[in-house]
Amino acid sequence: MNLIIRDAVAADLPAIIEIYNATVPTRMVTAELEPTTVEARLPWFREHSPHEYPFWVAESDGCVIGWLDFKKFLPRCAYRGTAEISVYVDEQFRRHGVGQRLLKEAIARAPSLGITALVGLIFGHNEPSLKLFDRLGFERWGFFPAVAQLDGVKRDLVVVGLHCGKPCSHGPAGRPVCAETVPHADAPSAFADVRRGGQPRSYNDCLSLMQTLMQYRQEPIHSALQKIRDKYSMLHLDVLILIYHFSKICSGAILEIGAFVGGATIAAAFGVRDSGRPKKLVAIEPGGGVKHKRLGTRHILRDLERNLARQRVSGMVTLIKGRSFDPKTISAVRQALGTDEVGLLILDADAGKRRDIECYRDKLTEGCWMVIDDYCGADANVKSAQSRADVDALAAAGALDPLGFYGWSTWVGRWRGRSAEVNH
Ligand SMILES: C[S@@+](CC[C@H](N)C(=O)[O-])C[C@H]1O[C@@H](n2cnc3c(N)ncnc32)[C@H](O)[C@@H]1O
Repeated sequence: MNLIIRDAVAADLPAIIEIYNATVPTRMVTAELEPTTVEARLPWFREHSPHEYPFWVAESDGCVIGWLDFKKFLPRCAYRGTAEISVYVDEQFRRHGVGQRLLKEAIARAPSLGITALVGLIFGHNEPSLKLFDRLGFERWGFFPAVAQLDGVKRDLVVVGLHCGKPCSHGPAGRPVCAETVPHADAPSAFADVRRGGQPRSYNDCLSLMQTLMQYRQEPIHSALQKIRDKYSMLHLDVLILIYHFSKICSGAILEIGAFVGGATIAAAFGVRDSGRPKKLVAIEPGGGVKHKRLGTRHILRDLERNLARQRVSGMVTLIKGRSFDPKTISAVRQALGTDEVGLLILDADAGKRRDIECYRDKLTEGCWMVIDDYCGADANVKSAQSRADVDALAAAGALDPLGFYGWSTWVGRWRGRSAEVNH
């Protein structure tokens, strides 16, 4: 079957509702007792976003034949990394692997959405769905006896779950815990073919990140960050968008080394603000002056503080005035972070990338997002050459997992230092 999975748009809603309504009289899938309408479901549909709680459709020959949505598992902040998923497939296309494809995609994409656990709520008598989730590694995490009443019959509810944010090597034997271990034997997706072809395990994540970036181009934050870039940043707009995105989805604090006059700091602060969760944002900058056609200044720190205030984010940023590797700076950063670990590290200071990582590596979470500037440059550019050598050495040792480079010269990836220590 020629099947594609894509983000749902409002025009798909009639087909989505039709598939949903067909399951109501079966009393197998949904606890809804009456069919619903497109109008009634519009607010629910709009609660989704491609970057946080996506809504996907499975399309074959131009027709929507199934869908999957993510939603908040519970509203309290501590459950942010856990999402509930629902999968529906058109009756005519069941037993064709459509539900399986959707679920596999959800498991594969969860880490890049900041989701570390997926749960499904399934009636105890819905054997086909229980088997499907079981095949993909979901375990039974909860059982609620006789909590639903369907046409006078009391029915049980089973909660199935899967942790999907951990590196595969730590997963229980034989259990697929993340994208890389999901069997792709019958999955005709491009990603499956690439994996069979022996590409790096992060290939799927690279494509997913590129897609995420493209999707932001349609959103208001794109023009907001364009203005920030024009006024305050030496980085490319794509990089500011990624900094915004990682700040929004990461767990833990954000550490920036080399804030300059605040472009990336402001992008990160906007991400924290839009995540709706409290996160520490610590920025290190020694100050001084810089000759630059667009952004030249004789007083970096004065301009940085003024720009943060203008964008109303001063209260969100702990600014540490000093050089990254000075003992006083290191201890001030540790004090600011307290027991929090760093979920996003932005390195845009001088050529000492490895030195800076070594100063703070014990504070980095496994999987910490890393944005490292000056990766590419002319051969004569000593700063890029050394930065690149540092990044490549860490990647070769398995401590950095590359996800590509963006803008003019910014490397993006994830910290795998703890698994590297185990494996090497
Ligand atoms: C290229 S600029 C950063 C640009 C900024 N990220 C943006 O969005 O435009 C580099 C900054 O790093 C600072 N810097 C240089 N060495 C540093 C160090 N060891 N620790 C912290 N900051 C440093 C410089 O003062 C300068 O402001």
